[in-house]
Amino acid sequence: MRVVVHPDPTGLSEAVAGHLSERIGEARERGITIGLAGGSTPAAVYRMLGERSVDWARTDLWLSDERWVPHDHADSNGRMAIEALGPEAGERLLRPTWSERLEPADAAAHYEAAIRAVVADGRPDVTLLGMGADGHTASLFPGTPAVEETARWFIENHVPKLDAWRLTATRTLINASREVIVLVTGDSKAETIREVLEEPGSGHPIQLLTEASGEVVFHLDADAASRLESTPVERPPD
Ligand code: 6PG
Repeated sequence: MRVVVHPDPTGLSEAVAGHLSERIGEARERGITIGLAGGSTPAAVYRMLGERSVDWARTDLWLSDERWVPHDHADSNGRMAIEALGPEAGERLLRPTWSERLEPADAAAHYEAAIRAVVADGRPDVTLLGMGADGHTASLFPGTPAVEETARWFIENHVPKLDAWRLTATRTLINASREVIVLVTGDSKAETIREVLEEPGSGHPIQLLTEASGEVVFHLDADAASRLESTPVERPPD
């Protein structure tokens, strides 16, 4: 597990966008699968990535979680990603189906099948994640059943604090990734990320990453990293 501390969210976004662009370029022959984080933090990364000249033809994008809302809803992670990345990348994004006649469980099962079809060897190449101040990641919220799910790759999860259904990658899919990139900014998350990194077993769902089979890199801005005491950190090259 590595921790990279960037001066500010813009520097973090530029660095991660550059890294993803390189990964996609390196894989232009064999292809690459990338799970996209939701929420607000990744939008700048996706905008910067969308501004780069990327050949998306061999890239398969999926969502590490999605809200149970119509595709054009303001809260949709898929909509956010497509608007930020642009239409060419958007064509490569696998989105969960949504219908008011569908149950979240059916959509989660169908989405899992779609991901299994593109992540053929069972290991996503890259999975992007965010973190909430409560230590959730994807839509694995503290105290919800999905946190402990291991048999499935994608699952429906009712989140009482939001009174909302979510669809989320499980720890099994996340931890099978060859590379996990976690994006955390802002001082509101500083204490949580200190506990996550410096207090093993403190019960935050994102600590499931301690079981990851691939590389895990936390990208923090200075505000989010401001309370770290004992964690070795890297600084990006000037
Ligand atoms: C979601 C996300 C969620 C997000 C964190 C951080 O659907 O909201 O996937 O896990 O990454 O809540 O959200 P922010 O980036 O908005 O702080």
